[in-house]
Amino acid sequence: MTAAGLRPVVAANWKMHTTVEEGCLLARDVCERADKHPDIDVVLFPPFVHLWPVADMLGATDVELGAQNMHWETSGAFTGEISASMIAPVCRYVLLGHSERRHVFHETDDMIARKVRTAVAAGLRIMLAIGETEQERRNGETIAVLTRQLSTALPVDLPSLTQEGIVIAYEPVWAIGTGVTPTPDDAERVSAAISLWCADRFACQPEAVKVVYGGSVTAENAVSFVRQPSISGALVGGASLRIDEFDAIMHAAQESRTLREVP
Ligand code: PGA
Repeated sequence: MTAAGLRPVVAANWKMHTTVEEGCLLARDVCERADKHPDIDVVLFPPFVHLWPVADMLGATDVELGAQNMHWETSGAFTGEISASMIAPVCRYVLLGHSERRHVFHETDDMIARKVRTAVAAGLRIMLAIGETEQERRNGETIAVLTRQLSTALPVDLPSLTQEGIVIAYEPVWAIGTGVTPTPDDAERVSAAISLWCADRFACQPEAVKVVYGGSVTAENAVSFVRQPSISGALVGGASLRIDEFDAIMHAAQESRTLREVP
């Protein structure tokens, strides 16, 4: 199986980093470098308060914008929350199910499922993060955990995973921000299983399912992940804050695309 036909996505999750001013400068730098990588999609997930100024900075470039989270209700008495319709004017994507949302803010599979429905209804593309904890991995439960996360988050009546532009980000919890990663073979094996599960659920080809890898992606290791046949890009945290390193990761994804096109 190969996801060769898919355009790789390289996404930057800035988390709760950068001032608005720093974020705008970083966005400007990303736009300049992204120009050299025309065959990949680049998505920035800055903090909420950066969204409008960063959107202005991105202007008419091809770099896309996404929000790091949103609430499942469309409006109401939810102090501190942000709705889909608030982000939709400037965001093409929303990141849902990130492990920090699941583990630090106790978001359940059900909450994430409700967010997915609301985001689809709002016309947002979703980057859905899933991943097992260290303990779950040691217990040999990785695939069972991922399957549970996917089957709750992605309702059977979702018209089409691919048409809705949903990207699955496989992010082992133990690899996020730790400098420890699975081997590229292990990441490939799990990504292939995710593609197969989604293909079965939504009656499409596994090759049509976009899966990216996330968790301690760096300039050095990016190439070994993005070249895997079932992996179509990367979700990058820490390294996305350093422009030279992020540029190298975009470059690795661009190269993977070029290599895959060779018959
Ligand atoms: P990291 O974070 O690249 O810093 O490990 C990835 C993520 O949280 O999406």
